[in-house]
Amino acid sequence: MKPVRLDRFLGNLGYGSRRDIAILARQGRIRLGETVLREADAKIGMGEAGALLVDREPIDPLPGFVVMMHKPTGVTCSHKEAGPLVFSLLPERWRRRDPAVSTVGRLDKETSGLLLLTDDGALLHKIISPKAEIAKTYRATLARDLRGDEALIFASGLILESEDKPLLPAGLDVLGPREALVTIFEGRYHQVRRMFAAIGNHVETLCRERIGGLSLPAELAPGDWTVLSAAEVERVFAVT
Ligand code: URA
Repeated sequence: MKPVRLDRFLGNLGYGSRRDIAILARQGRIRLGETVLREADAKIGMGEAGALLVDREPIDPLPGFVVMMHKPTGVTCSHKEAGPLVFSLLPERWRRRDPAVSTVGRLDKETSGLLLLTDDGALLHKIISPKAEIAKTYRATLARDLRGDEALIFASGLILESEDKPLLPAGLDVLGPREALVTIFEGRYHQVRRMFAAIGNHVETLCRERIGGLSLPAELAPGDWTVLSAAEVERVFAVT
């Protein structure tokens, strides 16, 4: 990529207006490695941008990054809705990034688990595209005992209420009388909850544990998040 002006680059990461960044630079608060950058119009090559420091702190993740969050229940995957949002769990500055950080698909407010967020629109579409058919695995606890025929019904391509198109075959692994892992390959509205409702059960808790070959690590507590390496992002596309 072509070198970009420092004020534009940091502005797009949410560090402030051109004027704010000119002030930071004049105050000697921006460095490239050991070198203080006092001019806001200095040109920064993409190869060196990772060495930028503001107030001696490494700058925020460079454009094209992916975050894995353990979404807690009670927060919404939206920029617009009222109430607590997943974005409020991330640094405040990130809300001013351009391109914006978006969730890769959505989890319901009452669903927890593995949620990806990125500023990379092409990657986002590659993951959520129906053509990609990436496996997503959810742990569900249920209000009623499993009957025993659920795996067969889910594998046959259930038709959900008010939809014509059958679901893609889904997987079910029974973990207990009222607990199962469900693997789906698309992302229709409230899909797992509606699948169980269609066969007379009710999902009480739902947690996404896996997307493709990427699993939610046990040590990532609800509300915590981490920036993924390129190799970790690639695991999303691993055939499982
Ligand atoms: N299925 C649901 O019912 N809810 C989710 O959040 C994801 C899949």
